[in-house]
Amino acid sequence: MCGSGTIPVEATLMAINKPPGIFRKHFAFEKWKDFDPVMWSSVKSQSENMRTPFHNAVIGSDISAQMISIARANTVNAGLEHVIGYKQGDFEAFVKPCETGMIITNPPYGERIRVNDIIDLYKRFGDTLKKSYSGFSAWVISADKNALKFIGLKPSKKYTVFNGPLECFFAKFDIYKGSKKVNNQRNDENK
Ligand SMILES: C[S@@+](CC[C@H](N)C(=O)[O-])C[C@H]1O[C@@H](n2cnc3c(N)ncnc32)[C@H](O)[C@@H]1O
Repeated sequence: MCGSGTIPVEATLMAINKPPGIFRKHFAFEKWKDFDPVMWSSVKSQSENMRTPFHNAVIGSDISAQMISIARANTVNAGLEHVIGYKQGDFEAFVKPCETGMIITNPPYGERIRVNDIIDLYKRFGDTLKKSYSGFSAWVISADKNALKFIGLKPSKKYTVFNGPLECFFAKFDIYKGSKKVNNQRNDENK
């Protein structure tokens, strides 16, 4: 559910020690009275020189072909096309390329999609994690706290974060063999 690729692109930039904001032309702080252009220019050139070798693979996937093509273009603009691959399709059909890894996702939440469809999507996502991703961790960011419960796994970490003005929840799920047990807990919680 990578959409335009913000998460794969910014995560990879962080992994190679390149600040994700480096492509921005302007920052609001440049208008501050005590803004120091010389210091800013030196900070920018230091960050240009910071790079850490990166050997892991990053893969983005989305059901929308249009989103995948936007994500690919954003990846090329960031110079990361050799590190990030993309695959179009439903998350249920995605074939994992390795036995362990980290999933980070920002699934749709109820703004343009009906409540029942949202619940079904989060349930299917949770079931897919339990069925195919034991040994992985999954970080999910969503503005829909109720929908997150339908993943049916107990988060091991939870943070409140803001996507612009929108309050969101960022939860980590550790997937291990036997995670299915919590299905009962999910059903109990949602009664
Ligand atoms: C909130 S958007 C993600 C936005 C993203 N963070 C970005 O930078 O653009 C949710 C994405 O989930 C995708 N999606 C919805 N249902 C899906 C499914 N069943 N399988 C894969 N992707 C899906 C949508 O196409 C959409 O791009």
